[in-house]
Amino acid sequence: MAYNLAAMTVRVRAFAKINLGLSIGPLRHDGFHELLTVYQTIGLHDVIQVSVGRGSGIEIRCTDPRVPRDESNTCYRIVEKAMQALNAKGRVVIHIEKRLPVRGGLGGASANAVATLLALERVLKKALPVASRLRIAAEVGSDLPLFLVGGTVLGLGRGEQVYPLEDLPATACVVVTPEVGVSTPDAFARWDRKLTMPGASDRMIELGRELSAQLSMSYSGAPRSFRRIVRPMRGRAENPLLELVRAGIKNDFEQVVFPEYPELSEGKYALERAGAKYASLSGSGSTLYGLFASKEAARTAAARLRRQGWAAQATVTLTRKRYWRRIFDCRFLMVD
Ligand code: C5P
Repeated sequence: MAYNLAAMTVRVRAFAKINLGLSIGPLRHDGFHELLTVYQTIGLHDVIQVSVGRGSGIEIRCTDPRVPRDESNTCYRIVEKAMQALNAKGRVVIHIEKRLPVRGGLGGASANAVATLLALERVLKKALPVASRLRIAAEVGSDLPLFLVGGTVLGLGRGEQVYPLEDLPATACVVVTPEVGVSTPDAFARWDRKLTMPGASDRMIELGRELSAQLSMSYSGAPRSFRRIVRPMRGRAENPLLELVRAGIKNDFEQVVFPEYPELSEGKYALERAGAKYASLSGSGSTLYGLFASKEAARTAAARLRRQGWAAQATVTLTRKRYWRRIFDCRFLMVD
């Protein structure tokens, strides 16, 4: 197949996510852990540009030296699989404009890969069936499939089984990216050592059982926090997202990551002191986020945190509709 390169370039935004609570379950035989989490897409993003020209191979261009340009890059891996599944030929060039912090917790590399897949399909004017997209995304990493849903997303299994939840309203937030890097496999391993405590792994099984019971019984007996997610929450005086997280949603990783990296718990407290209604580690970190009552409060808090020496950015959570609209609304963004 011959390609006209000029006509074969698509640019998309790759939005980040945060985790609104994360329960870690037992270690499985495949080396992964059962998870129960709620993902939420947010407005911070990278920009991805994909071109397909004559020839073969995959080339990654990125000015950030921390981004790998070989087959260890998630974008490379997803393109390899997608080109095969689409039965397409050509040389794929991927530009990554890194705007998101490279520190973990925001799913940046995973978002980049899914954005690359979406752009590639547009370039080739071919689309994979939804089930194939989800399968390919899950093969590349546990937290890729969520970016094929967007908005507020329930994550089960190893995090790759994704279900759209009723969207929580757009909420102002501040993302703090401390200098430290946390290894996700190490954080899971620390959790496993902690799990010698009897009953700790039962909590996850119990949560999962209760949740599936709710999904088949009109959600009438789910844990309070999840009942609040799956049910419409209209007519309340305050933002339901703030109510939800205050209702007891938490991230298990904090228990093993904070003792190892005390500056991260300091970051959480700094967010709370700056006025966050709720603050938490995202994923296994090191990214922290705080939810705020208004955009103004978030902007003021981010400025205050920066004065204190934290790398802090104000943003807003993205509903599913806005997420999909803004992914492709990217014509005037420059890629370096
Ligand atoms: O799927 P992903 O590549 O993001 O996973 C990276 C590593 O994190 C895995 O190799 C595994 O060690 C750990 N992990 C886990 N349980 C999960 C997800 C990831 O143990 N549910």
